[in-house]
Amino acid sequence: MIIKNLVKQKRVKIKTKNSDETIDLGKKIGKSLLPGDLLLISGELGAGKTTLIKGIAKGLDIDLYVKSPSFVIVSEYSGKYKLYHIDLYRLDGEEIYNLGLFEFLENGVVCIEWADKLKNSFNDLEHIKIDIEVVNEDRIFNIILNGEEVIKRCIALQ
Ligand SMILES: Nc1ncnc2c1ncn2[C@@H]1O[C@H](COP(=O)(O)OP(=O)(O)O)[C@@H](O)[C@H]1O
Ligand SMILES: [Mg+2]
Repeated sequence: MIIKNLVKQKRVKIKTKNSDETIDLGKKIGKSLLPGDLLLISGELGAGKTTLIKGIAKGLDIDLYVKSPSFVIVSEYSGKYKLYHIDLYRLDGEEIYNLGLFEFLENGVVCIEWADKLKNSFNDLEHIKIDIEVVNEDRIFNIILNGEEVIKRCIALQ
């Protein structure tokens, strides 16, 4: 977990044409990540949030990624590092607060689906924000790298 030392931001827009390309993008992101990294992912149902995280898992050398049923809130995987895949779809307010997100961050990489439900609780931390737009079969990934460290580390995306 890195406290943002400077308000530095970099925006990257990447388009994928099918789920394989989205997995490849996730893989590329996953390879750049370290424990303590936080990814806030949003986009409508079917946008590709889970598909992207599947790719991120591959990039972290996690072979056994099981697409979790939507009632599972936190799925933990072990690869190069631990990956916590958190789905906020069914949670609200207090419940989100009580998940103990900071503890997960101390132990590994954290990817959060439906992250728009978090409001601004993570603005002081370095993080990667990804908002997925759907245009027919295309998906446009609006990525904001928030903080100097993540900008440096995710150089392959820029
Ligand atoms: N470019 C693309 N990237 C990702 N998924 C795509 C793409 N084009 C079509 N799809 C389809 O969209 C769906 C995305 O599902 P999923 O990743 O579970 O979305 P979410 O987690 O956002 O609800 C899948 O059925 C996938 O095959
Ligand atoms: Mg999903």
